[in-house]
Amino acid sequence: MALVSLKEMCEKARKGKYAVGQFNINNLEWTKSILQTAQELKSPVILGVSEGAGKYMTGFKTVASMVKAMIEELNITVPVALHLDHGTYEGCYKCIEAGFSSIMFDGSHFPIEENIAKTKELVEVCAKKGLSLEAEVGSIGGEEDGVVGLGECADPDECKKIADLGITILAAGIGNIHGKYPSNWPGLRFDILEQIKKKVGDMPLVLHGGTGIPTDMIKKAISLGVTKINVNTECQLAFQEATRKYIEEGKDLQGKGFDPRKLLAPGCEGIKKVVKEKMEIFGSIGKA
Ligand code: 13P
Repeated sequence: MALVSLKEMCEKARKGKYAVGQFNINNLEWTKSILQTAQELKSPVILGVSEGAGKYMTGFKTVASMVKAMIEELNITVPVALHLDHGTYEGCYKCIEAGFSSIMFDGSHFPIEENIAKTKELVEVCAKKGLSLEAEVGSIGGEEDGVVGLGECADPDECKKIADLGITILAAGIGNIHGKYPSNWPGLRFDILEQIKKKVGDMPLVLHGGTGIPTDMIKKAISLGVTKINVNTECQLAFQEATRKYIEEGKDLQGKGFDPRKLLAPGCEGIKKVVKEKMEIFGSIGKA
């Protein structure tokens, strides 16, 4: 199946009261593990690519070619979107050219008027090409240089201004952050989410920083209009833990245990487990 945009996927999720997971990819093993799990569970899936991960994989064209070829070679029939995560203005154009099916423009650090102007321009470009566009208001915090921010909350009026531009889906900060949540994290701000929802109506919403958010909060967020949830760190931690165990048990020193296909296999199983658990919580299983 060819790559799809988020439009139909998220519209269906909004109506069906479930969310589609965005799982970030870093390499071939990540991509394969996520695609195979989605296919096995008959779930739609979004492959997220940050600008850093795109660079690591040698560029967005390499990523798009790999993902498209893998979908064909693995006979993946569930809907798959290839989505730029937290794109810069320039990065958005690079991904449009590379053949991504969905773009996120993160203009949250710009003054609102500039965020509006750039988002508006990208809405038109994406619409012409049949791509979906995610925009962001109220930056999602996280760990930067060892300092953990507690997560900004978006201004509901600014959310309405951006939503009215014709974007496909809106990411709005509601106290969520990327990476592990600190022990003093007060939780998601459902009061703000409700205010945003009132302003933007049926616009599907995105919850970033899906790692470590308790299940009851995830379910409540879905009931209040969240239809896309991003998960990255949790897959990385699962991969790291399984790889560490393999090496600490000395398995890389036994027989051909040094073969990368063997060495990376437990980590891949770790990723698959996380993706499955998340899809269960998000309610996307069997929805493809
Ligand atoms: P986590 O790394 O906290 O799961 O966040 C992922 C994310 O929001 C990517 O945009």
